[in-house]
Amino acid sequence: MHSPLPGSHSLSGFANPCRFRYIAAVQFGPLKLDSNLFLSPLAGYTNLPFRLVVREVGGLGLATTDLVNARSLLERNPKAFKLIETSPADRPLAVQLFGSVPEEMRDAAMFLESKGIASIDINMGCPVRKVCRVGGGSAMMTELNKTAALVRMMVEAVKIPITAKMRLGWDDENITAPDLGRALEAVGVAAIFVHGRTRQQGFSGTINLDGIARVVSAVKTIPVIGNGDVTTPQAARKMLEDTGCGGVSIGRGAFYNPWIFQHTLHHLATSKLLPEPRFEDRVRVMCRHLDLMVEVFGEEIGCRMFRKVAPWYSKRFGPANEFNKQVVRVSTKAEFHEILDRYLRWREQFLDANGELQLRFQPPPMVASFMQAPAVARREQIPVPQGPVDVW
Ligand SMILES: Cc1cc2nc3c(=O)[nH]c(=O)nc-3n(C[C@H](O)[C@H](O)[C@H](O)COP(=O)(O)O)c2cc1C
Repeated sequence: MHSPLPGSHSLSGFANPCRFRYIAAVQFGPLKLDSNLFLSPLAGYTNLPFRLVVREVGGLGLATTDLVNARSLLERNPKAFKLIETSPADRPLAVQLFGSVPEEMRDAAMFLESKGIASIDINMGCPVRKVCRVGGGSAMMTELNKTAALVRMMVEAVKIPITAKMRLGWDDENITAPDLGRALEAVGVAAIFVHGRTRQQGFSGTINLDGIARVVSAVKTIPVIGNGDVTTPQAARKMLEDTGCGGVSIGRGAFYNPWIFQHTLHHLATSKLLPEPRFEDRVRVMCRHLDLMVEVFGEEIGCRMFRKVAPWYSKRFGPANEFNKQVVRVSTKAEFHEILDRYLRWREQFLDANGELQLRFQPPPMVASFMQAPAVARREQIPVPQGPVDVW
């Protein structure tokens, strides 16, 4: 479990009772969570090493695996088994399932419950054609009754919470999330995650906070967890304030900054902002991430996978082209450390007398899309990492 943080467990000592709702402990059915901040599934990235890194930094309530095909799990497919690989430090953990055959989804849920998984999330947001064609992912948002029947079968088969992750709807003319949320609440879903964009939008445009608020109003008692473009503690707070959602789920923002959960909890509890993580800390956590990748995937595959991970850390290093150019070819841990040592020497030219990055080389502060003017938001979209899926 992650280490306790100031303000993350106790609600006492706050002058303003309105703040309580920001950090109210969230409960998914019987599952009590220490924080209302969640790691969003990012296929190809939210593997065991990354989840452990985020947990070690702290502040996370619940992490979710990449999406896993229910049928592949039942067929004991080794790739699907690798996706659900976990460890005692990786708790509490939700597995995200996709599929459209009710019996398969039910049996996969029962199997995961028997393995000690804390919660199961159903993917209803994935816009990838391969997933939608078979009636999974965001296609589930277009067939409310069928989807509710599938979910009911899962809820009735297990004691652990079943949650659903959706977009606002298929397109602007079909904003189905409020109705679907209501229908799923009626069949016993424990929480709903909403990415504040439609399927048609992909990752373009800004997050529609009002759309998330409409899902919050549509359900009676279950928590709605807002999601999309949260890259700073202030953005998390705005999403909570403007939508009334019970928690915030963060994907790419955690990739830029594994400290985001810890810093957001602090901000919600105190209204203050912790300083940005120091360069040395970013490097330390990046090295820890690589160690865990090698531990879990072996040196060859772990290093190859790390080629797409390291450049996310370096986005906040300041000048880093030398590092990026070399790290995308890394094959061994020793080679990685040589690249890093060379980079640290190269980076010295950008430092001041105190060894800090000169102001003019520092990366600009992150600002979430929905906290910017629309024109700026369009220009400065968060990159969408490449992965086994082209579009999400
Ligand atoms: C590379 C990538 C992979 C993703 N994989 C999944 C997935 O497996 N399941 C899912 O429900 N959403 C997936 N998503 C969507 C994210 O969970 C999240 O809803 C979206 O990125 C918006 O949140 P963010 O702006 O905090 O990243 C993925 C997104 C990206 C960029």
